[in-house]
Amino acid sequence: MAVLPLVIYPDPRLLEPSKPVEAVTDETRAFMDDMMETMYASQGIGLAAIQVGVHQRILVMDIGFASGRYKESGGGSKPMYLVNPEIIEESEDICVFDEGCLSFPGQYAEVERPEYVKVRYLDYHGKEQFMEAHGLLARCVQHELDHLDGKVFVDYLSRTKRDLITRRLKKRAK
Ligand code: NI
Repeated sequence: MAVLPLVIYPDPRLLEPSKPVEAVTDETRAFMDDMMETMYASQGIGLAAIQVGVHQRILVMDIGFASGRYKESGGGSKPMYLVNPEIIEESEDICVFDEGCLSFPGQYAEVERPEYVKVRYLDYHGKEQFMEAHGLLARCVQHELDHLDGKVFVDYLSRTKRDLITRRLKKRAK
């Protein structure tokens, strides 16, 4: 396994949509292992393939990993691999959460999203699965799914807040 370099905003690759995976192969699995390793190394709870520069509809998540900030997870590690995920149901209930992103180091902002989603996806072995997610898991999977469509969490913010975050990241890159 390997830790891959992260793509940092405002890198334009983050704004491009990703392509569906045709088949989950050993190569796909090796890539997902690298993604998980990369996510853990960066203390993240979710990562989309495009965040390591690959335009494929693949996500890894582990809301139980590290981070004392996320008490809700109960602390147990549960790695999840989602290929070609799609939301097939969502609640009308909306909630607010202070989101961050590994492509936006050190930046956080409140974003509103549905509290519940049901997601269809292919697992690590290419088998179709359904996930019903509430709370932090629902939050995380929606944030990661956005990445696959070339969308990032600052797209939900006001122009002023988005510009402020963009300036900070550009400054940090120098
Ligand atoms: Ni993100």
